[in-house]
Amino acid sequence: MTARIRQREATFGSEEIRAVEDVLKSGWITEGRKTAEFEEAIASLTRRKYTVAISSGGVALFVALKAAGIGAGDEVVCPVYNMIALPNAVTLAGAKPVFVDVSSSNGNINVEKLSEGSPDARAIVPIHMNGRNASMLEIGAFARDHGLVVIEDACQALGSKLNDVPLGTGSSGSLAACISFHPSKIVTTGTGGAVVTDDEEFALKVRALKDYGQTTRGKVEQLPDNYKTWGLNFRFTDIQAAIGLAQLQKLEERMAHISWLYRFYNKEIDHSFRLSLDDQNGFLPWCCDIRLKKPVNEKLKGRLLSERGVETRLPYKPMHLQPLYASSAVGDFPGGVETWQTHLWLPTGPHVNEERARYVAEAVNEVGLRVHSEN
Ligand SMILES: Cc1ncc(COP(=O)(O)O)c(C=O)c1O
Repeated sequence: MTARIRQREATFGSEEIRAVEDVLKSGWITEGRKTAEFEEAIASLTRRKYTVAISSGGVALFVALKAAGIGAGDEVVCPVYNMIALPNAVTLAGAKPVFVDVSSSNGNINVEKLSEGSPDARAIVPIHMNGRNASMLEIGAFARDHGLVVIEDACQALGSKLNDVPLGTGSSGSLAACISFHPSKIVTTGTGGAVVTDDEEFALKVRALKDYGQTTRGKVEQLPDNYKTWGLNFRFTDIQAAIGLAQLQKLEERMAHISWLYRFYNKEIDHSFRLSLDDQNGFLPWCCDIRLKKPVNEKLKGRLLSERGVETRLPYKPMHLQPLYASSAVGDFPGGVETWQTHLWLPTGPHVNEERARYVAEAVNEVGLRVHSEN
């Protein structure tokens, strides 16, 4: 096999094409009936009462923080190892991110370090990194003791469960969870996101924030005469919703495929150069990943691509090493550094069939053993 195997590939079929065509022909493309249908489907999937579809996962985080009353002068606890969307959403809300280290066995906030965060924080945003549950029971208990609002970043967790309960449901007392429908995700709407919650008043605030202060969806453009609350246009579209609804039809099949692929890689990739990851019952990875014994993921990534045409992806550089947050982050965060340097995301998705999966596993074994013995 010589063709390049991509780490990710957005996969669409005739269902998505037909669904978009129907919306275009209907003459209504901004959010309306289709968006409502999509929101109901996401609410049922995440077992939350209310879903508000929104323009992206990052905007969902920003709007959820604002609707929770987080603003100037507030501090928000965030894992140091994360996608930059979260601290940027915190700063856009006017607040300050306070970073806490993560555990390199799962990339999630290390609950033993929670007390090292700020005593003045008002909120905490754990991430279910790569679909791995962020110890929500412990976080919920900590938040209750310290009076913190909890908002879950479930952008990588749609389809992932803990003992049959979908991540993001709020069983541990979180106010809301945020989801992303970026093309790298298991269900995509081109770009897009959602806030899910059980709190009706909060859901209405989110709806107003993303629609110039209005809370009615799908009405012909008639803005209110008197604006009571601030908002902007972070709306969804019925085109996105139509794509999303067609994608949701394939969710079960995709989940089964990713579970199979993760198990396949785990069985076929040599354990002598890697460590185990902390996987729980019901876990579904966003990207099939491995954790290396030595910090050689960058070298392995480069060689896999140049020698074998296998595209992989490096995880996130921790925030204290990002120029944007280096001066405000206090500490050296060894768990975040180790996660960044030892985790590697492998080709994942419907485009990786058994023949390709076997090729990837063989390439990782061949190049991985060599790179590890050199270091
Ligand atoms: C953990 C996490 N948070 C937030 C986001 C932001 O989502 P979006 O790209 O839809 O803005 C992502 C997207 O990849 C993510 O993985």
